Amino acid sequence: MNHFLDLHTTAQGDLRAILDQAHQMKTARNGRPKGAADDSQPLAGHMVALIFEKPSTRTRVSFDVGVRQMGGQTMVLSGADMQLGHGETIADTARVLSRYVDLIMIRTFEEAVLQEMAEYASVPVINGLTNRTHPCQIMADVMTFEEHRGPITGKKVVWSGDGNNVFASFAHAAGQFGFDLTFTGPQALDPDPAVLGEARALGADISVERDPYKAVAGADLIVTDTWVSMHDPQSARERRHNQLYPYKVTTDLMAAANPDALFMHCLPAHRGDEVDSAVMDGPNSVIFDEAENRLHAQKAVMRWCLGV
Ligand code: CP
Repeated sequence: MNHFLDLHTTAQGDLRAILDQAHQMKTARNGRPKGAADDSQPLAGHMVALIFEKPSTRTRVSFDVGVRQMGGQTMVLSGADMQLGHGETIADTARVLSRYVDLIMIRTFEEAVLQEMAEYASVPVINGLTNRTHPCQIMADVMTFEEHRGPITGKKVVWSGDGNNVFASFAHAAGQFGFDLTFTGPQALDPDPAVLGEARALGADISVERDPYKAVAGADLIVTDTWVSMHDPQSARERRHNQLYPYKVTTDLMAAANPDALFMHCLPAHRGDEVDSAVMDGPNSVIFDEAENRLHAQKAVMRWCLGV
């Protein structure tokens, strides 16, 4: 049984195979309507539970549409509406759901919840974001880079801003896909040292540069994310804005990178905060391809989980 919990705990060869299948499946759809079925229906007869303990637009819709395109069925569940939100244990929830569904995707707060779900479920579990990581997002991001610029191996990726859960999966991906990763942000919001250790154990070349202009020199891709994540207290908002303002992605910062450097943001974005609209809507931005590729990458992840 293949759980898809994190990039550093999934075999490098499996990640490559998933992305290769994602590219193939996207090409095979060849512009047909979103509701049209794929030629092959690998999830026919399969039921997928999509559990959300946090808000979501992209993850919710892309998983739901992806399952339907592949012939399966979904149920979208809010954690607050389940007994899970009223004291039932994760372990019991996992064992019960496993009697009804073939695959579980969960977006939750603590990584321990995801791990416990995977430990007790007898069906595969997919990480749809935790406070610690967001592996499905970075599968889509690597796919997007490859579509526009070819192999990401050996390229320079710069993360500007908060060393958060999305950065963590970028760090894991740096080890698995072999690109150089530079973090530029305030020391107070440095990445989790444990995450850096996991990535470096995979051979990742990760550096830290406090000056964003020095950081982006020679960059092939610049990435940022919202300054206040879903799990951050709103009381931290003003402090974080002050800390992160120097790391806003502007047209000036993009101009200091390679001329063909791409810009990515997992969305939702706060235009004018972490990134200017001129960058988001500019010629090097691939943010909506990223969002679309959540669909294709996750379809391949689900096939890998189910072995279909
Ligand atoms: N990027 C991302 O995970 O988007 P949602 O929060 O809308 O799912």
